[in-house]
Amino acid sequence: MEQLMLEIVKVTEQAAIAAARLMGKGDRNGADQEAVTAMRTALNQIPIHGRIVIGEGERDEAPMLYIGEEVGNGSDGDKQVDIAVDPLEGTNLCATGSPNALAVMAIAERNGLLHCPDTYMEKLVVRPSAKGVVDIRASVKDNLKAIAKAEDRDIDDLVVVILDRPRHEQIIKDVRATGARIKLITDGDITPAIAAVVEGTGIHALMGIGGAPEGVLSAAAIKCLGGEIQARMRWRSEEEKKRASAMGVDLSEEKVYTTDDLAPGNNIIFVASGVTKGDIVEGVSFFGGGARTHTIALSAISRQIRFIDSIHMLEKVGKIKLK
Ligand code: FBP
Repeated sequence: MEQLMLEIVKVTEQAAIAAARLMGKGDRNGADQEAVTAMRTALNQIPIHGRIVIGEGERDEAPMLYIGEEVGNGSDGDKQVDIAVDPLEGTNLCATGSPNALAVMAIAERNGLLHCPDTYMEKLVVRPSAKGVVDIRASVKDNLKAIAKAEDRDIDDLVVVILDRPRHEQIIKDVRATGARIKLITDGDITPAIAAVVEGTGIHALMGIGGAPEGVLSAAAIKCLGGEIQARMRWRSEEEKKRASAMGVDLSEEKVYTTDDLAPGNNIIFVASGVTKGDIVEGVSFFGGGARTHTIALSAISRQIRFIDSIHMLEKVGKIKLK
């Protein structure tokens, strides 16, 4: 899989460039569509037998990169892989030119990433130091106490990221009652899920309900970085449950998914390219005749973290700036 890393980087780079062309134009669906088309075109140039397990939705609702779609141009002997994609994570962030919009993809051996429909998921993400001491079923207070103890700091020194949504009114109150601080975000919980498992980001946990596809992609990154994600499904409709059941997903909202349940593969590669400037990677910048992209690429096997800074000469040799 490691040999495929650069090929995968090219996929998220192309998606990021395509979406970034529409940055700030108020067209979240248009930007998403451009990213999807670019990602699919680039994916179909890689020598793999790929199967989308986390994608743009089900076959009947998404014309491209739907769950179950076969991608890649593998021939005999090429790898059978499962693929999770989010061609534009943070469509609103891109549409408004706000930080942390990403093009994201993870790849693993067959059955190395959870198959699940586009639903919601309750998430708890913590650093490697707090791995094993939290429990998503426990109270916010107990979890924050445990994180503070594991991190050898006071609760009020902790920062928890939560999506700013009415459904989080109670959890926000509960976190505030402990004295911990909160970073409320408008959209995009993959970036803070990664930040929450890395030292020096000033983020110690992510809590609350977000997208399940983003949960699986976050788990792929967390598997490569260490740290822990725990999750529970939060179905929004009977229709989602029906789709999940057809995929063989447990319908219980009590079942706790661990990092290994969400990303069971050993051979996982996670890649994200910035669309807009963000906390983990820079966004796309365009110059005469080209573009510059910034990507983070992780491997669960080699446990290496790569930052890839690429210059793409798109039309003609333009004004290239190397620094
Ligand atoms: P999109 O990229 O589809 O716009 O989703 C971004 C996102 O903010 C995710 O990062 C997050 O998990 C989810 O949406 C939250 O969903 P909602 O906006 O419905 O609360």
